[in-house]
Amino acid sequence: MTDSSPDRKRAFVPYSRPCLDADDLRAVADVLTSTTISQGEQLKAFEDAFAKHAGAAFATAFSSGTAAVHAMCHAAGLGPGDEVILPALTFAGTANAVRYVGATPVFADIDPSTNCISPDMIEPLVTDATRAVLSVDFAGQPANYDRLRNIAAQRGLLLLADAAHAAGARWRDRTVGSLADMTAFSFNPVKNITAAEGGMVTTNDPTFASHLRLFGSHGMTRDPKLLESSPPAGWYYEQQFLGYNYKLSELHAALGLSQLRKLDAYNEHRARLARYYTEELSDLPLILPRPDADSLHSWHLYVIRLTGTDVSRRDELFEHLRSEGFGVQLHYIPVPMHPDYRRMGYTTASLPETVEYFESAISLPLNPSIDEDTCAAVAASVRSFLGIEPRNGNPSTDAK
Ligand SMILES: Cc1ncc(COP(=O)(O)O)c(C=O)c1O
Repeated sequence: MTDSSPDRKRAFVPYSRPCLDADDLRAVADVLTSTTISQGEQLKAFEDAFAKHAGAAFATAFSSGTAAVHAMCHAAGLGPGDEVILPALTFAGTANAVRYVGATPVFADIDPSTNCISPDMIEPLVTDATRAVLSVDFAGQPANYDRLRNIAAQRGLLLLADAAHAAGARWRDRTVGSLADMTAFSFNPVKNITAAEGGMVTTNDPTFASHLRLFGSHGMTRDPKLLESSPPAGWYYEQQFLGYNYKLSELHAALGLSQLRKLDAYNEHRARLARYYTEELSDLPLILPRPDADSLHSWHLYVIRLTGTDVSRRDELFEHLRSEGFGVQLHYIPVPMHPDYRRMGYTTASLPETVEYFESAISLPLNPSIDEDTCAAVAASVRSFLGIEPRNGNPSTDAK
């Protein structure tokens, strides 16, 4: 194996990182010098702008993406005895949120062409106890919403979406956030836009929207239209069900709103880098992402997969790229493989595509703070590891 990057001083390139500029700093500083640091106009403005961008009637902010998925499951009325079908290939937080409400996650295999839940694998898992499908727009590729919506309609299920990777993505002519009964987003530091931490649920259903709003605020309301008793005076509020304190502060909301203005530009930058990676790596024995031609991918992740006997060298390639300063990652350990889930009796026996993906995948650095030169250096490092000649006869070490 040759070392494709003699420049050992190059700064570590994380797979993702927050991109914060002077506008973001000003937005947060303005809140700090105001009198309202929670539950104010920034929150309302962020929710309204996010709903508009997603093409949804309502958006409700939460303190994290996991809280958003939890809220969505609660608003859906899921509880003990209910089953929810979701892909095994996701961050464990997706499935954990199903468990928070006492419902049972049922894991479906992925479609290897999208790495999203396979619609064909859903039908055999539906039982009398199934209440919802919870899809994940993996890496920023929207799941096949047409088929998922059909299955949900035919089987009388709710369609919930975890779009933590897919802010700004589109399925056919509709923006992610307007296609499922409810859709959750995350704004943690590595997501396409960040609020430092935060989440959002979009919906077109006013009943869900009303429940979501109360859920993140202890199940409490002072809205006169919702009160069960007539208010004796202005101090009155009611707890109408057991909720949580999942509120997003004004500081986080101001940052999220400022970032939202740049979401489309960030996603275009990500798409440009993804095209570049694909060009640079297309002659290698790898499985590269194959974005659906009719949808708009948000390129949260660019995942390469090793093939053939190279699969057994995945961890070696991972360490090689890390040692050269490239912050590659593995998204994700399939949820049923975590010890906590294994102890509950979950296995991956019926999830061959998920397991094949897991054993062969590596996420390359992809974020708006890097450019084509960095991608060229990453690609050169992959080439040299695989022992394949540099492209165009240029030594791979030139590609920096
Ligand atoms: C698919 C998916 N769902 C949910 C979450 C949870 O989001 P958060 O970290 O904001 O709680 C993440 C975060 O990594 C995620 O990738």
